[in-house]
Amino acid sequence: MGSAKSLVIFALFISTFAAAAFGATPEGWWPIKNLNDPEVVGIAKFAVAEYNRTSNKALVLVSVVKGEAKQAFDPSETIYHLDIYAKDAAASTKPAGKYVTFVGDIPSKKFRGLISFYQISN
Ligand SMILES: *[C@@H]1O[C@H](CO)[C@@H](O)[C@H](O)[C@H]1NC(C)=O
Repeated sequence: MGSAKSLVIFALFISTFAAAAFGATPEGWWPIKNLNDPEVVGIAKFAVAEYNRTSNKALVLVSVVKGEAKQAFDPSETIYHLDIYAKDAAASTKPAGKYVTFVGDIPSKKFRGLISFYQISN
């Protein structure tokens, strides 16, 4: 009992110290409120286009369903985590599928990189 309690206190102490030392909370994600923001839609289109290009697919963005963002280790980079609906242009009778994507964005270098892109449901 006693040692479990002191372990919890120790863990709290360490996480508080870490947050103070690195100037950020461990959970740095903030929700994206305006999913129609051209910047956010641009990120989603970039992700679909990269996926098309690298996987030889023909997905078309339908909409951004949900999104959050966080600052990367490099403070000039923002990581976007988006849930999107996309339709396969090569199978037009199939309904849109839901996909998750992570994109790194460094506006000052005009750089975007696809981190991951995967389907979670049909
Ligand atoms: C993906 O490829 C298809 C087929 O070439 C195209 O119609 C679609 O616009 C592309 N999507 C994006 C976001 O570029």
